[in-house]
Amino acid sequence: MAERRPEGGAPRHYHLGLDWGTSTTKLVLRDYSLGSNSAAYVLRPTGTQEGGRYPSAASVHNGLVLLGDAAVGRRGTTEYSLKAKAETPQLFGTRVPGAIRLTYEALATLYLAHIMKLALDVSDVLARGAGQRPRMGVTLGIPTERGWKKTPLAPVFLRMARTAYDIGVRRGIDPQGCSEQEAEEMLRVERPHDSRTDTADYEQWLRPELGAAMLWAFRSPAIAPGLYSCVDIGAWTVNTSYFRIRHDHLDGEYRDKGGLSFFGGACSPPGMNEVCTRLANVLRVVDPTELRGREDALLDTSRERLIEPAVKKMFDVWRVGFGHAYQKEQIQERWRELRVFAIGGGSKVRAVRERFRQFPVEHWPAPKEAPVLGPPKDLYEVPSGGVPSRTQLRGDHAFLHVAYGLSVRHGDFPPFHLSDAVSTLTRRDTVAPDSRRRNVRCRCGSLTIPGSDRCRDCE
Ligand SMILES: Nc1ncnc2c1ncn2[C@@H]1O[C@H](COP(=O)(O)OP(=O)(O)OP(=O)(O)O)[C@@H](O)[C@H]1O
Ligand SMILES: [Mg+2]
Repeated sequence: MAERRPEGGAPRHYHLGLDWGTSTTKLVLRDYSLGSNSAAYVLRPTGTQEGGRYPSAASVHNGLVLLGDAAVGRRGTTEYSLKAKAETPQLFGTRVPGAIRLTYEALATLYLAHIMKLALDVSDVLARGAGQRPRMGVTLGIPTERGWKKTPLAPVFLRMARTAYDIGVRRGIDPQGCSEQEAEEMLRVERPHDSRTDTADYEQWLRPELGAAMLWAFRSPAIAPGLYSCVDIGAWTVNTSYFRIRHDHLDGEYRDKGGLSFFGGACSPPGMNEVCTRLANVLRVVDPTELRGREDALLDTSRERLIEPAVKKMFDVWRVGFGHAYQKEQIQERWRELRVFAIGGGSKVRAVRERFRQFPVEHWPAPKEAPVLGPPKDLYEVPSGGVPSRTQLRGDHAFLHVAYGLSVRHGDFPPFHLSDAVSTLTRRDTVAPDSRRRNVRCRCGSLTIPGSDRCRDCE
């Protein structure tokens, strides 16, 4: 746990996309020193599972803080859905079972510091291979569909990201295996600017997961311009976005895929945790997290019925997202070209994936499936020994979209805005604002627009 000493050499700039998932964490490190040839690497610390997934587990065991891979298997004290606890602020500030004083928020911060230090070590090796020293920035994903001012998680996530950065990057400490007392000392950081947080701070440190996931499609050579929806079905939340990849003129030059128009989206529980809980009830398994990754195999036709309420709620999140998007693009005809791609753990489960083959509004023609999203051209495996060889990404990449979209610094991300103007769903109300009127039809048979008895095309 020695603090980092300053080293010589010119700085080499990296940016870490930190997709802290409820079940596993996905990491993409972008090397910014290569200019227009910028390359991003999927990080796979020891203990990473197939698909680039590092366990989001953490525990306090016998007075020691155990993080990630080291915490796996210690059932009883290990937290396997730490991120989901942030939803309840009163709980997040309370003591973790097994700890004397550390709270859930403190443990989550230490976990993020551990991750950042692991990434810093990789950037250290890469930079030193080029005779330089690393400078690493970080963007942390946040599950939200709202603007910063209306996102209750934003101040909490910002506080965790900054403190973790202080520990893991500025001071270069990995809290893995430290005592509670050492942890408390690490977490004691002076931060006068906390009280003056503004939008720029949030944008520099955080990016909504649903926004980040769009970038992969934008950059993937397999994806043509058009209207898309991405559905990311995670362990805790469903994140969904509706957007158009469009042509544009950049610096006077025509680009087929020059811009990204974000229409709207939604983010809410439930995710696959609820599917696991329902399955655990029938299988009489005490800890539902033991079933993670086995859902597809466990779901025969009779059990599919049991998870249907959970799947319906996931579909409702998608529908709420559509309600938001439709307010910006009200010509129904345009939605006929919608293409959908599902990512995240839920996309591996047939009974869940299939639900997203229907249009989010009843009786509208089914959307098309997006072509298989091949990896973007700038995403690689980490070069071994600091040699900048370009080994294309291998294996499953259904989990990496968000981390890839977070690896781009704020100023380099195509602009998009979350809307504060539209009514947003509450955690309890996952039904689209539009859904009460979903059967109100225009004389041509299309869905009417809000406040009218005609569809947009007949108005
Ligand atoms: N084949 C699979 N591989 C991995 N996860 C799977 C698979 N099948 C189902 N799952 C479920 O998907 C979830 C993991 O997906 P993912 O990694 O996208 O979630 P997360 O990013 O950890 O969560 P969130 O985005 O909600 O914070 C787990 O709940 C797991 O049980
Ligand atoms: Mg996720």
